[in-house]
Amino acid sequence: MKVAITGAGGQLASAMRLNTPASMEVIWLDQAALDITDAAAVASTPALNSIDVLVNTAAYTAVDAAEDDAAAAQRVNGDAPGYLAARCRAEGAHLVQLSTDYVFGPGVPHRPLTPADATAPDTVYGRTKLHGEQQAGEATILRTAWVYSANTLPGHRDFVSTMLRLEQSHETLTVVDDQHGCPTYAVDLAAAVWEVVVAQPGGIHHVVGAGQTTWFGLARAVFEEIGADPERVKPVSSAQYPARAPRPEWSVLESDYHLPEWRSALHRAVAAKL
Ligand SMILES: NC(=O)c1ccc[n+]([C@@H]2O[C@H](COP(=O)([O-])OP(=O)(O)OC[C@H]3O[C@@H](n4cnc5c(N)ncnc54)[C@H](OP(=O)(O)O)[C@@H]3O)[C@@H](O)[C@H]2O)c1
Repeated sequence: MKVAITGAGGQLASAMRLNTPASMEVIWLDQAALDITDAAAVASTPALNSIDVLVNTAAYTAVDAAEDDAAAAQRVNGDAPGYLAARCRAEGAHLVQLSTDYVFGPGVPHRPLTPADATAPDTVYGRTKLHGEQQAGEATILRTAWVYSANTLPGHRDFVSTMLRLEQSHETLTVVDDQHGCPTYAVDLAAAVWEVVVAQPGGIHHVVGAGQTTWFGLARAVFEEIGADPERVKPVSSAQYPARAPRPEWSVLESDYHLPEWRSALHRAVAAKL
C-alpha cells in the first residue's frame, strides 16, 4: 500500500514515523516538499502519483495567531483539504483528514461528544478546520484533541513538554482547572491513524486517549511522573488566564478507537527519555 503523509515535519506525522507498518510504502511530505495551499502543486506533484491513501496532518495549528491571521488559517485548514480531496479522486485514493475538538463550541452538553453532536466553532481555528472537514469530500475525518508527545519527540512543543520545562524554572505554576478534555499521546494516536489507513472507514470519527481530566489535572500528573511535588501546581479559572482565542471548556470526546487510558499513556511518554 502506497501512503502519502502531508505535514511530515509536525508532531503527529513524526509520531507516525516511529511506528510505520512494514507493509507500507510511505511518501513523507513536509511543507518544503509540498505546500498544501498550492493548488497547482497538489494537482500535479509526481509525489502523489498512484497513491492509495493520503493522510493530511498538515494544519495551521497556532490557535491564538489564527485569530489575527484568518486568511492564512483558512488557506491551510479550510481550502487545502479540498485540493487534496480532488487529487485523491484523480488517483483513486482515500483521504484521511485530521480535525479537532475545536469544531465544537460553547454550550455543548457535558458528556462525551460524538460526531452526531452539533458543531458551532467560536474560533478562527475551529471554523477553518470545520470548513476543511466539509471540503474533504468522501474522506475519513479523524477528530482528535489535547495531543502531546512529551519526551518522545524532543523539539515539538506541546503542553506536557511545556510543563516539564516550567517545572525546572518555576517553584509554582498556575494552570486552568475548568477546561476538560482527553489527553492524547501522539504515539497512540499515530497507531490508530495507521489502523484507519488500512480500514478506510469513511465518515467522521473521534480518536482520543481514554478517560478525561483538566489541564490542571494533567499538569499535576506530569509533576507526579517526575517525582516533583504536585502541590506546586495551583488551579486557576479560565477567566484568570485570558487567551486571544477562547478555549473550549468541554473537549471530552467519545473515542471510536480504543486508545490507552491517559494516565498510563503519560507515564510512557514521560519515561521515553528520562
Ligand atoms: N496538537 C493537538 O493538540 C491537536 C488537537 C486536535 C487536532 N489536531 C490536528 O491534528 C493534526 C496534526 O497536528 P500536529 O499536532 O501534528 O500539528 P503540528 O505539529 O503543528 O504540525 C502541523 C504541520 O503542518 C505543517 N504545515 C503548516 N502549513 C502547511 C502548508 N501550507 N503545507 C504543508 N504543511 C504545512 C507544519 O509545517 P511547519 O512546521 O513548516 O509550519 C507542521 O509541520 C492537525 O490537523 C491538527 O489540526 C491537533
